[in-house]
Amino acid sequence: MPWRVPPDRRAAGAAPDPYRIWLSEVMLQQTQVATVVAYFEKFTTLWPDVHALASAPDEEILAAWAGLGYYARARNLIKCARVVSHDLGGTFPKTEAGLLELPGIGPYTAAAIGAIAFDLPTTVLDGNVERVMARLHAETDPLPGVKETLRSHASALTPRERPGDYAQAVMDLGATICTPRSPACGICPWRDACSGRVEGIHESLPRKTPKAKKPIRHGIAWVAVDANRAILTERRPDRGLLGGMLAVPTTDWSEDPKAEQPPFAAEWKDIGEVRHTFTHFHLILRVHVASKADSASGYIPLAEAARQMPTVFSKVCKLVAGYE
Ligand code: ADE
Repeated sequence: MPWRVPPDRRAAGAAPDPYRIWLSEVMLQQTQVATVVAYFEKFTTLWPDVHALASAPDEEILAAWAGLGYYARARNLIKCARVVSHDLGGTFPKTEAGLLELPGIGPYTAAAIGAIAFDLPTTVLDGNVERVMARLHAETDPLPGVKETLRSHASALTPRERPGDYAQAVMDLGATICTPRSPACGICPWRDACSGRVEGIHESLPRKTPKAKKPIRHGIAWVAVDANRAILTERRPDRGLLGGMLAVPTTDWSEDPKAEQPPFAAEWKDIGEVRHTFTHFHLILRVHVASKADSASGYIPLAEAARQMPTVFSKVCKLVAGYE
């Protein structure tokens, strides 16, 4: 992981860069390491420090974030960079409470940055650590109710010495050895201490209260294509789902959609559908296409639009590209 400073380099005097730790932790909030790495490299190449990021235009940052999902993170990232750059002289707060005051930094991220960047003995509890704690202590009560019990186990285990290395080690143990299915207990450093393994129930832990099924919402996306294969785009409103991101015009998305007007009168043709799952619902978008002879402002080449848009809209662009 390119943001890591491993123990041998720490021992040789290298220190983690709080900017890089913050950026990686915000990206990792809802996204897997394998996906984050390329985005992290792109961001740190474009914007090597917090001042560079803070002075970049919103649209460029949002375009670079496209595809990573959970776009409120990108808007908070911009806000946070500007607070740190303009109000704090480019220095991230070195306490958990100070970190918590920044936009987009919740309890998990404050604990992770505190431990990894500043070696504070914070309690870092992500899904991987929850699983490790549930198994180690054979906690059979389901999540989310058992979360605070798991937190107190995690807190009790956090050492005063090298808490940053410890936090990353437990996360990695959860990600690579204490995996949800087929954990590699044979090579686990905690195998003898693990009550879940001793009782033979480790693979069933942590238990989870079943989630309600996600509803299905429907909508129409209108894609107007001009003679140069550029499409009509718009910015989503700053607030709400995919806020501030580049998009194509659509209806509202609802479980019981009402017919709505396209952006202009033309011969709109239904070319198929795009499916995408968000945190709280599944979306089925019918894609309607029309040709526009005269190009106007707001038209962006199809391939470039696809790169700058959130995944649901780049799926729409790909469908249109295949149809053309
Ligand atoms: N998930 C969230 N933060 C992480 C980190 N620092 N290392 C590994 N996985 C993580």
